[in-house]
Amino acid sequence: MRRKLAAGNWKMNGLKASLSEIEALIAAHPGPDCDVLICPPTTLISAAAALARGRIAIGGQNCHPRLSGAYTGGISAQMLKDAGASHVILGHSERRADRYESDEVVHAKATTAISEGLVAIICVGETERERDRGATLDVISSQLKGSLPLNASGAYLVIAYEPIWAIGSGRTPTLEQIAEVHDFMRAEMVKRLGDDGDEIRLLYGGSVKPSNAADIFAVPNVDGALVGGASLLASDFGAIVAALEAA
Ligand code: 13P
Repeated sequence: MRRKLAAGNWKMNGLKASLSEIEALIAAHPGPDCDVLICPPTTLISAAAALARGRIAIGGQNCHPRLSGAYTGGISAQMLKDAGASHVILGHSERRADRYESDEVVHAKATTAISEGLVAIICVGETERERDRGATLDVISSQLKGSLPLNASGAYLVIAYEPIWAIGSGRTPTLEQIAEVHDFMRAEMVKRLGDDGDEIRLLYGGSVKPSNAADIFAVPNVDGALVGGASLLASDFGAIVAALEAA
């Protein structure tokens, strides 16, 4: 039985004052009926984890493939864990595109993250041009093949389907389009991992809001959401958590 997951990706947003949103979220959902995760910027992970005290999970947004060494500016999986993170987002399209992260790099980072005991949330998704030319499932298939590490398991891997054209745009795929990709990803995971593939949580991400969350959560094989903009305010994200609890 997969436990649903509402994950917030704050991206490069959030100062110390923003910790009050985490406080408000926990106050509004003291014992949520689903997993709740906030991935703030690295500078806030320690403070957020101290505040959350395990009531919600805290995660990073990236990590280095190596555990330590001469990599100026790098943040290792071990450091995230040490700061109180339990999850890490890897292969977000903003990093695949802006930081030239290949499937191979995502694979290396995920291998290290999982071996350090972090849950890796690996993002995949097509561009609008790829969708228009009917290549969506091919793109997802090749990203999954290239990015998923050999040590992936139901407990330590989450996949987020984030169509690039839906991120921050206010546009979302139709529920049928979401279902098609999620059913495909489920089948791929079962092919790869057998019964354990059925335990991997598949999140949808891209313009999830309180107003569309319930419809998206009713789609089979959608086990939650990876939320950007609407995770910054406890009131919006709390409404998404409530929709997931009710799903
Ligand atoms: P938005 O929810 O702002 O569209 O962002 C989605 C996202 O990229 C989450 O990782």
